Amino acid sequence: MVRPRVVRVQELVSIDEIRAAAAGLDGVALRTPLVPFPRTWPQLLLKPESLQPTGSFKLRGAYTAISALSAEARRRGVVAHSSGNHAQAVAYAAALLGVPATVVIPANAPPVKIAAARAFGAEVVISRPGLSARVAATDELIARHGYTIIPPFDDRMVIAGQGTVGLEIMTDCPDADLVLCPVSGGGLIAGIAAAIKALRPATKIIGVEPELAADARDSLRQRQRVAWPSAQTQRTVADALRVEQVGELPLRHMLSYVHDVVTVSEDEIRAAMRRLALEARLVAEPGGAVAVAACLFRGRELPAARIRVAVLSGGNVDPALLTEILGAAAGQPATGEPATGEPATREPVTGEPGTARTAGCE
Ligand SMILES: Cc1ncc(COP(=O)(O)O)c(C=O)c1O
Repeated sequence: MVRPRVVRVQELVSIDEIRAAAAGLDGVALRTPLVPFPRTWPQLLLKPESLQPTGSFKLRGAYTAISALSAEARRRGVVAHSSGNHAQAVAYAAALLGVPATVVIPANAPPVKIAAARAFGAEVVISRPGLSARVAATDELIARHGYTIIPPFDDRMVIAGQGTVGLEIMTDCPDADLVLCPVSGGGLIAGIAAAIKALRPATKIIGVEPELAADARDSLRQRQRVAWPSAQTQRTVADALRVEQVGELPLRHMLSYVHDVVTVSEDEIRAAMRRLALEARLVAEPGGAVAVAACLFRGRELPAARIRVAVLSGGNVDPALLTEILGAAAGQPATGEPATGEPATREPVTGEPGTARTAGCE
């Protein structure tokens, strides 16, 4: 008799799992504030995860996943592959928990990210660029040493940890009606969307990615995982968003909860980084700036909203790149200004919602 193949489909991550992750992260991850981007209308609030001790939100998922491991798994050690931010987060979280960590980082990651992972105490293994090379190097380490993998995005503990960003947004601004979030493998948006849809189903969640790595947009539209060739996604300046396809569990969250994915150009990413530094006084790395870029330059593609929140997901930028981008503000012609002819920002008119106090959020 041929037995039917049993395909186990994981439940979506629940608000209870996200609340449990939040309790575990107390005193470990920074409770980041919502910071207004000056003179924007509709009001734009930033969630600056760049201020985390490792410079990105990734600490939330990495710590949640490592702290859930058995004593035996912790003793053997953990391994992670990452474009750099997850590697730093795993290195930092593992050190806090006294767990040995090895991280696999592609050769084209910014040197600051590689150096930080080492400084946090992890052993660093450099792989060829592209997801498959990273995965192959990690599998070899697991086979040889029995390490436990801490996945970068396709894992419910990681998603629950990243979801604490959404929980905090809704606690601090229960009226936010549009939340924009960078997407690469989809762990961040999956967790944020699970939290927000549980607490305020009417809030729309929008994913943002570079035009040069728009696999998540294609996956959402075709309702299945679509992979872009690595050679194409490697072209974007947003080194954190070069993963070729979203994870399985993240995509299931996106199909249930995410309204749309919009894309931004390379010029818009750079211009958003520059404006964040000069106007909001916040340092963003390219991948961390895409949701802000969508608010500043793609307003016409976004649903109407009174209060928008953009997740500024990371600030680990190569100093030479930041210098080049800030330098462009001083002398060179500004690129990436709004192409629509509509000003990206205007002075709020007294009496408009959100002008009397910060976006009506207390
Ligand atoms: C700064 C930054 N933003 C956004 C993302 C995207 O996160 P995810 O892979 O969970 O979609 C990453 C992933 O590395 C990142 O480092």
